[in-house]
Amino acid sequence: MNELDALVESARAGFAQAGTPADLENAKARYLGKAGRITELMKGLGALPVDEKKSRGAAINLAKQAIETALAERRQALADAEMLVQLRAEALDVTLPGRQRGQGGLHPVSLTLERIEAIFGSMGFEVAEGPEIESDWFNFTALNTPEDHPARSMHDTFYVEGGSEKAPNLLRTHTSPMQIRHAVQHVKRHRAALDAGRSMPEIRVIAPGRTYRVDSDATHSPMFHQCEGLWIGENVSFKDLKFVFTDFCRTFFESDDLVLRFRPSFFPFTEPSAEIDIQFQHGPLAGRWLEVAGSGQVHPNVVRNMGLDPERHIGFAFGMGPDRLTMLRYGVNDLRLFFDGDIRFLAQFR
Ligand code: DAH
Repeated sequence: MNELDALVESARAGFAQAGTPADLENAKARYLGKAGRITELMKGLGALPVDEKKSRGAAINLAKQAIETALAERRQALADAEMLVQLRAEALDVTLPGRQRGQGGLHPVSLTLERIEAIFGSMGFEVAEGPEIESDWFNFTALNTPEDHPARSMHDTFYVEGGSEKAPNLLRTHTSPMQIRHAVQHVKRHRAALDAGRSMPEIRVIAPGRTYRVDSDATHSPMFHQCEGLWIGENVSFKDLKFVFTDFCRTFFESDDLVLRFRPSFFPFTEPSAEIDIQFQHGPLAGRWLEVAGSGQVHPNVVRNMGLDPERHIGFAFGMGPDRLTMLRYGVNDLRLFFDGDIRFLAQFR
């Protein structure tokens, strides 16, 4: 092996030993740098006679090219190795099952409330909402409920601290106070027309929301839902109540042959009053009478508290339990499931 071949060999070995790009640059300097071996050889050319200079120069150039090629290869090899390390470090295991995006859904009672609103909406009822902390006036007095009515006792009603004659001082025990609140606003807007002997648009409203009572077992929760309904006009009768509520129940339960029964009852704010029972003709509950609402013709005292003349305005009201409707619709047998927040239960409704 001549001297130049040996030099190329030693450069290759030097480059191979370099484990990092910095080592490689150092090794390069030994051969190709200003004071490197090749450079030195080139400088030595000057001392040679002309004819030797040419062939010697060409040989050195070949060696130089070989070293440069070896350098480039080693550079690439180091870069590839570095890339491999990085790829390994950043490797993704695409076979992992992955984190699922949580899929939410509406609470079953919310589904029922939406359904109630849609069905009554299609019959021209608006939706009103009102406060859950209510005053004695709206919750009881305005609804013709006397001072000594048992519903007013501490056993039945959550009272809130403070409270004066006008201030809210209890958690509403039903959505019925919304009858008064909504009607008073409605009548106020049409006062002038009424005073001039003209008619007002009918009051047709439902009022869904949370209600509270001191009560807790498989079918009672201290917090529960109600939905009030009210239709007041100049010629609204009990038969309209029967039609509207029958139509609602049949649509809600998607059962055209559902049978309703209006069972005489008593509420201070209606006269006459009725409990509404339904009877399925098919399915697991077929044949049983199930109570779903209270209802009646709005009592003249209540009509008066709305700011209307009971000789002229008349109508009906009802109050139903969306929790119970939800239980019947989905076959849930314990009311508490709705409020425990157990995701295994709730996920079944999404
Ligand atoms: N507020 C009554 C309750 O909580 C339900 C009710 C009965 C509402 C008759 C009404 C009605 O509007 O007319 O038990």
